[in-house]
Amino acid sequence: MENLIEVRNLTKIYTAENIFSKEENFSTLALNNVSLSIKKGEILGLVGESGSGKSTLGNCVLRLLQPTRGEILYKGENIMSFDKKKLINFRRSAQIIFQNPYSSLNPKMKIKDILEEPLIIHKMENKKEREERIFKVIELTGLNKDGLNRFPHEFSGGQRQRIAIARALVLEPEFIVADEPVSALDVSIQAQILNLLKDLKEELNLTYLFISHDLNVVRYLCNNVAIMNRGEIVEYGEIESIFNNPQNEYTKTLLSAIPVI
Ligand SMILES: Nc1ncnc2c1ncn2[C@@H]1O[C@H](COP(=O)(O)OP(=O)(O)OP(=O)(O)O)[C@@H](O)[C@H]1O
Ligand SMILES: [Mg+2]
Repeated sequence: MENLIEVRNLTKIYTAENIFSKEENFSTLALNNVSLSIKKGEILGLVGESGSGKSTLGNCVLRLLQPTRGEILYKGENIMSFDKKKLINFRRSAQIIFQNPYSSLNPKMKIKDILEEPLIIHKMENKKEREERIFKVIELTGLNKDGLNRFPHEFSGGQRQRIAIARALVLEPEFIVADEPVSALDVSIQAQILNLLKDLKEELNLTYLFISHDLNVVRYLCNNVAIMNRGEIVEYGEIESIFNNPQNEYTKTLLSAIPVI
């Protein structure tokens, strides 16, 4: 199978001005020479503790952040060199779902408008077509048409994450970065959302980069996993073999920290 995403030697350094010294700026090495690839139809898990660089990687892969060095290829093409037309296409086919459905949905917008906005931005002129797309994602995500005229705060956490997923799907993407999509939810709701993501992947032939700090969640959903520690991938491969035979000390620590279920 072909690679949908290929990350080559990616480095990201954040710099911030040091107000006490003109010569020296603050800098954080958030990603250090990271390489990985995601095949079409794959769910790659990206695991690491807070601050290890997971979101930075997810944002670089979507061209929401500019890397300092290295390359990201989408279907074999460098995303940083996309012209305007290719970038618009890429923005349609690569979407993100955030951790917190409380802050990622505009509280002043009705669900209908939240779901319609990406279609308007991408110039889908035909109102009927937009409506069809909205009904389709509502159905795919197990939401109810009756909710379209309501506001995000009228929904539970799990329902809100379904709305965020529906919004990510409305442009019919191929690739989704899910940045800790269930971490903010009650444990009882987490399984429902994970199953939904799993079903959607099959039904729509999606590819995910699934970010999590929970190895159990990743084991449930992914075949392959990359373990990050301080901006570096310290272990990368098939999840079962890493579970059964971890090579890296940091991975062993992560594994020993998870409860047995
Ligand atoms: N905009 C920014 N400016 C400066 N430093 C940043 C910025 N965003 C992230 N960092 C730093 O880069 C490093 C990696 O952060 P990142 O958010 O990618 O980690 P993460 O693995 O997603 O963590 P979490 O699990 O808490 O979401 C951290 O040290 C963080 O403080
Ligand atoms: Mg993060």
